[in-house]
Amino acid sequence: MGFRRLADADVKDKRALVRVDFNVPMHDGAVNDDTRLKAALPTIRALSWKGAKVVLLAHFDRPKGKRVPEMSLKPVAGPLARLLGAPVAFADDCIGPAARAAIDALPAGGVILMENTRYHAGEEKNDPALAAEMAALGDLYVNDAFSAAHRAHASTEGLAHLLPAYAGLSMQKELEALEAALGNPKRPVLGIVGGSKVSTKLDLLKNLVGKLDRLAIGGGMANTFLFAQGHEVGASYCERDMAETAREIIALAGRSNCELLLPVDIVAAEVMQPGAAARVRGLGQVDEHERILDAGPETVARLARAMDASATLIWNGPLGVFEMPPFDRGTVAAAKHAASLAKAGRLIAVAGGGDTVAALNHAGVSADFTFISTAGGAFLEWMEGKTLPGVAALETA
Ligand code: 3PG
Repeated sequence: MGFRRLADADVKDKRALVRVDFNVPMHDGAVNDDTRLKAALPTIRALSWKGAKVVLLAHFDRPKGKRVPEMSLKPVAGPLARLLGAPVAFADDCIGPAARAAIDALPAGGVILMENTRYHAGEEKNDPALAAEMAALGDLYVNDAFSAAHRAHASTEGLAHLLPAYAGLSMQKELEALEAALGNPKRPVLGIVGGSKVSTKLDLLKNLVGKLDRLAIGGGMANTFLFAQGHEVGASYCERDMAETAREIIALAGRSNCELLLPVDIVAAEVMQPGAAARVRGLGQVDEHERILDAGPETVARLARAMDASATLIWNGPLGVFEMPPFDRGTVAAAKHAASLAKAGRLIAVAGGGDTVAALNHAGVSADFTFISTAGGAFLEWMEGKTLPGVAALETA
């Protein structure tokens, strides 16, 4: 399967509708983290330098079809212009005569950001009428929003069928990195899945054990696996009703020749507070008042050895409560080890999913990873083996 690439498009004097993901963290009307703005720059620049009018379509938050003023994209235009080093116009609707007039007024190579696509109820319904109104404003469509590609919305999916559609440069980079990590990876492949709930990552775990050579389970969900194996987990977070499911996953891993790496020691404390007294415990040594809050040193050492023996790593979810030192130690040590192998060219290290990126930033190693996805939900759905509608719509036969 292939995609139409931006490099193949004739864009001069054309109006390019570019779907970006500017659903960025915002505080008091100011952009808090501009990672997603930066990710869109190569596509915007490529189109602008070739003389296209760049019309940016994006959603922000979940206004549910209403014009909620706090969910306007207007505060994003300034920071984007600063990063781009060029003016960014703003239109207060993404369709209609005023939007058209604003696009008409742009010079060749000009950039305009359109107001939140989700101000229209038709966006999330993938309403063909809304998609047609958007399509009327452009000559071609570029999807550069991998992180919104799990949504079959008018601007992420419907529009792709109405205009010549291309994958943007950031979308292309995401797809190539993810293909290299899971679609067609260099083996052996190690996965790390952390986070709290087995119940939300069930499909993901089942898909991964069928594809990976080794899978390490960390974070709160490891407690459920330990409990399922008959180990005492004290007052830890644990989905006891998922024990049978955890046993099924263990059995499935065995049948699929996927080596499952569960904790062999843990870090526990009586209270979940920054700086709380932390104790390393072996399995079965957790007191009834204690909570497991991080992976233990032997578990991390074993994980490091598994990384040394792997060619590819795909990581989603922290190993412990990394926001709360000292329970960040396991995640930080594992992240540093992966980063040093990646930096030395000995490991293809790919990571994604909201908390994961924050954890790697906390460990100070993001720059050394081979690739870090900007996606949260889309990354998870892709790890589950699902087809992402926004990606499927770009595929050529
Ligand atoms: C994200 O931030 O993960 C994407 O922009 C999707 O946002 P949504 O979950 O509101 O659809």
